[in-house]
Amino acid sequence: MQALSPLPRTRVQLYRLTTPSSDMQREIEQGLLATPRRIHPKYFYDERGSLLFDQITEQLEYYATRAETEILRRYGAAISARLGANAILIEPGSGTSAKAEQLLPTLQPRVYVPIDIAAIHVRDAACRISHRFPWLDIQALVTDICTMEQLPDFIPAGRRVIFYPGSSIGNFEPAAAVALLSRWREFAGTDGHLLIGVDLIKDPGILHDAYNDERGITAEFNLNILRHLNRVAAANFDLNAFRHVAFFNEPKHRVEMHLESLCDQHVRVGSINITLRDGERIHTENSYKYSDRSFAALAEQAGWELDCSWHDHGHFFGVLLFRAR
Ligand code: AVI
Repeated sequence: MQALSPLPRTRVQLYRLTTPSSDMQREIEQGLLATPRRIHPKYFYDERGSLLFDQITEQLEYYATRAETEILRRYGAAISARLGANAILIEPGSGTSAKAEQLLPTLQPRVYVPIDIAAIHVRDAACRISHRFPWLDIQALVTDICTMEQLPDFIPAGRRVIFYPGSSIGNFEPAAAVALLSRWREFAGTDGHLLIGVDLIKDPGILHDAYNDERGITAEFNLNILRHLNRVAAANFDLNAFRHVAFFNEPKHRVEMHLESLCDQHVRVGSINITLRDGERIHTENSYKYSDRSFAALAEQAGWELDCSWHDHGHFFGVLLFRAR
């Protein structure tokens, strides 16, 4: 592990754990050769993709961020009371740390550990938070949370709270979500907690609109994954030769996003060449929707027991608190 240069304040440390780029190239190529073809949704989040995602969260149709913010605003104090002060707050996929920032004033943890693959996000967020909460010890980590098998040694012992807002757990296949939550159960220890944002099953029309916003930001976000691959995986995708497709797959309780080829075409990706037919799709994302009960059943398989849950006024979204079983 590489310790990056310390940030201006002494109570902030930034570390980086790198994934070999050969693993990334192999993962991308294997996905594109699979049937059906797919690209892992983590490749949405290059710098431009992260900005586009931030814009998605501001769209009228995308209710999820607003609903979760409402829950944290209304029930932040109650959630914090349930968790108690002086915890070690670990946030995988912390992004801009906006949700943690909402919780920190009432939760008053001893240490905050933001973890994200985007170094710029982690660094900026750690700086911002250290200025706003000078009493807080911040141990920031730049790494891919999907491949992080262990928690690095620098994270202090103590009562750990894993905080995973934003309903990103829905972007994992249920079996992968169980594997991830099991790993985090190990990270948290026997007195640990998990505080997680879950997007709830709702009217299919609302779900459809949330992933097909009128301004086309979600479409841009979806297409941008190809631009990212062109840069990091030596690909030559023509973004104009694809269209964004998103729909709610009701039997599977998930919104699916795809990129549909608009013609017969050949694409090079590193050492491979793929041929796409007119109308053929590349599957870029699933976003699973749950009920409190179905999510609690999934988390139970990973060693977590539901303690409490909070919802927005429209019951679109849930923030669920689990304790280690
Ligand atoms: C990050 N994640 C929870 C978002 C979602 O709703 O599944 C990603 C997203 N994809 C399209 N719009 C937003």
